[in-house]
Amino acid sequence: MTAGGPALALRGISKSFGAVAALTDVDLDVAPGQVVAVVGDNGAGKSTLVKVLAGVHPPDSGTITFGGEPVSITDPAAAHALGIATVFQDLALCENLDVVENLFLGRELRRRRLDEVTMETRAWELLRQLSAKIPTVRVPVASLSGGQRQTVAIARSLLGDPKIIILDEPTAALGVAQTAEVLNLIERLRERGLGVIMISHNMEDVRAVADSVAVLRLGRNNGVFDVASVTSEEIIAAITGATDNAVTRRAAAQAGGMP
Ligand SMILES: Nc1ncnc2c1ncn2[C@@H]1O[C@H](COP(=O)(O)OP(=O)(O)OP(=O)(O)O)[C@@H](O)[C@H]1O
Ligand SMILES: [Mg+2]
Repeated sequence: MTAGGPALALRGISKSFGAVAALTDVDLDVAPGQVVAVVGDNGAGKSTLVKVLAGVHPPDSGTITFGGEPVSITDPAAAHALGIATVFQDLALCENLDVVENLFLGRELRRRRLDEVTMETRAWELLRQLSAKIPTVRVPVASLSGGQRQTVAIARSLLGDPKIIILDEPTAALGVAQTAEVLNLIERLRERGLGVIMISHNMEDVRAVADSVAVLRLGRNNGVFDVASVTSEEIIAAITGATDNAVTRRAAAQAGGMP
């Protein structure tokens, strides 16, 4: 067993939208202090998997255990209560509000009036812990770079003191320097003992920070690899199906045969 927080384990998770099987029999494991990249082609089921864990789309079948205990994530509040935080790809920040206002939106600290001083102090503490490069917390988020916004969104998700954090394409819209900043941030999260699930399309980012990489193809598992001992070519082969197993070949044939 791992030290620190609880480990998250998904077994046999399936989720359909009408006739579309977005996830079929998917397994995934994340331990405390571990970064697991989830990769796969467009439509492979990555975002659906994120939404299952975020309580947006409860699974049709399968089991989720957290620290060895079965849990059911029926809605976003249940995910939050368990300590599973999600940073969705669109970040959901309010452009016109400043960094502090965004961090504490919906959970403002009050004594009698809004406790601006404490919120600002906490905001700086949090950003410092993340070694975040944000010049001032009193600028509207609209004036921040993509990397800084991602940082604010991640910092906000940490306020609930989660055990697991899920990042959907955290570097997708970022330049080289900003990507490096976000990857550093992910390393800080790992050092804090969080389990991190990172959805990504970028092999370099995956190789830079992930401990293991889980490939989804056509809504099914198509391999879990230790990043230290797998080549990018092997991962890409698993993504594209060049290394299909019998089960995924059959699924591909069926998907191709549909009207
Ligand atoms: N709310 C929904 N209603 C109907 N079908 C959906 C819904 N969400 C996802 N799907 C379908 O489920 C499948 C998996 O979609 P998902 O968004 O999980 O893929 P993805 O791996 O995140 O892809 P991308 O890389 O394009 O973001 C797709 O065929 C998609 O059309
Ligand atoms: Mg997606």
